Amino acid sequence: MDNQSPQRVRVNLAERGYDILIGSGALAQITEQLVSMHQSGARRAFVVVDTGVPQRFVDHLLSSIDSAGLEPTTASITPSEPIKSIGTYQALLEQIASTGHSRVDPVIALGGGIVGDLAGFVAASYRRGVPVIQCPTTLLSMVDASVGGKTGFNLSISLSDGSSKLLKNLIGAFWQPRLVIADIDVLDSLEPRHRRSGLAECIKHGCISSGVGHDGLLDWMIDHLDQITRFEPQIITELVKRNVELKASVVALDEREDTSKQGGRMLLNFGHTFGHAIETIPHLTPDPSDPTLSPLHHGEAIALGMVAACRAAQSEHDLDPSVGDELVQVLERIGLPTQIADLISDSELIERMLHDKKSTAGTLRVIYPIERGVCKVIDNASSDSVRSGFSSIRRAF
Ligand SMILES: NC(=O)c1ccc[n+]([C@@H]2O[C@H](COP(=O)([O-])OP(=O)(O)OC[C@H]3O[C@@H](n4cnc5c(N)ncnc54)[C@H](O)[C@@H]3O)[C@@H](O)[C@H]2O)c1
Repeated sequence: MDNQSPQRVRVNLAERGYDILIGSGALAQITEQLVSMHQSGARRAFVVVDTGVPQRFVDHLLSSIDSAGLEPTTASITPSEPIKSIGTYQALLEQIASTGHSRVDPVIALGGGIVGDLAGFVAASYRRGVPVIQCPTTLLSMVDASVGGKTGFNLSISLSDGSSKLLKNLIGAFWQPRLVIADIDVLDSLEPRHRRSGLAECIKHGCISSGVGHDGLLDWMIDHLDQITRFEPQIITELVKRNVELKASVVALDEREDTSKQGGRMLLNFGHTFGHAIETIPHLTPDPSDPTLSPLHHGEAIALGMVAACRAAQSEHDLDPSVGDELVQVLERIGLPTQIADLISDSELIERMLHDKKSTAGTLRVIYPIERGVCKVIDNASSDSVRSGFSSIRRAF
């Protein structure tokens, strides 16, 4: 790890504002924050570690905690959507409580979005809230999950027919971190499929960018797509910075996703209402010839959801088809799925959308593009438009 100065992006939320540090070797910057917490009375740190993170980063973090005078306790998680659950949450609470963790002691998340969401919710709820530092280790968690304070887990509910259903991120809280550190070096070990998944969220940002004051982000990503897909470190640092700037500015204007705003943070859900409806279908795979790839990863579901939303918008309000065509082209260049085999029926999918927490009282609330780079919240979308969206991503074989 080298010691270049990291890039710094501020999330302007008055007393809850914080910095996001981005760059090669950025993890070293955590010591300063921990020393300041120690001076304010912190004595322990509860570290939630993703088992996918290479050990040298875990060691590096533990030695920083130690050198700041804090005593670390670690809890390890091997992430999956089913383990993003109340059971894991409870186990983490039991572990943190057994250490005597006080209200000023920090929780530190070192991992992808699942670890960040769970650790964040532990921090939000333990003793009515303790500080959390997010150290995201996947591209997706760097550009999206670690920024903005959304924390929580999925809830599995039993249905009358004896089956169960996983409701994504149904339980949670807004709890802003004190600091976010995105050390680009940690991405070296990230598998290509997870890299692509993170790029899906970057493209999502591009699709809303002009409407939220970040005109040029989509063009910049398309112009640099070859370097981005090769994961060249300098371009990835710039990619993370530009994406985090967008997310930080949207969050600063709408911290808690005000549903009456018809914009703001809700726009970040572009692709998500469609995507969440398919993400939790266990048998789906991004490559029909390889069933071992199921279930879909979050970013893969969002890629499909964005395509469905574009095509649905063509039916809902005559969106120019070139918007969806360009999106499909970009996602295919990245290697993300734009169609999917074995999709369940439209009515089942619509039922799932109605149960998504982003829908309101039985109406279909979706985010549709209205032009390139600009999206809009649509309340009461027609079920015909939604069906045409799903048809467009349904692969016949
Ligand atoms: N809070 C938010 O605002 C927000 C936003 C977007 C997504 N999310 C949530 O984030 C989750 C998805 O996050 P994700 O894509 O990071 O998935 P993830 O947390 O499942 O991590 C993906 C995989 O990468 C591994 N991994 C992590 N860091 C690694 C590294 N440095 N090297 C090698 N492997 C590594 C993990 O062990 C895991 O197998 C979803 O649950 C989604 O709901 C939350």
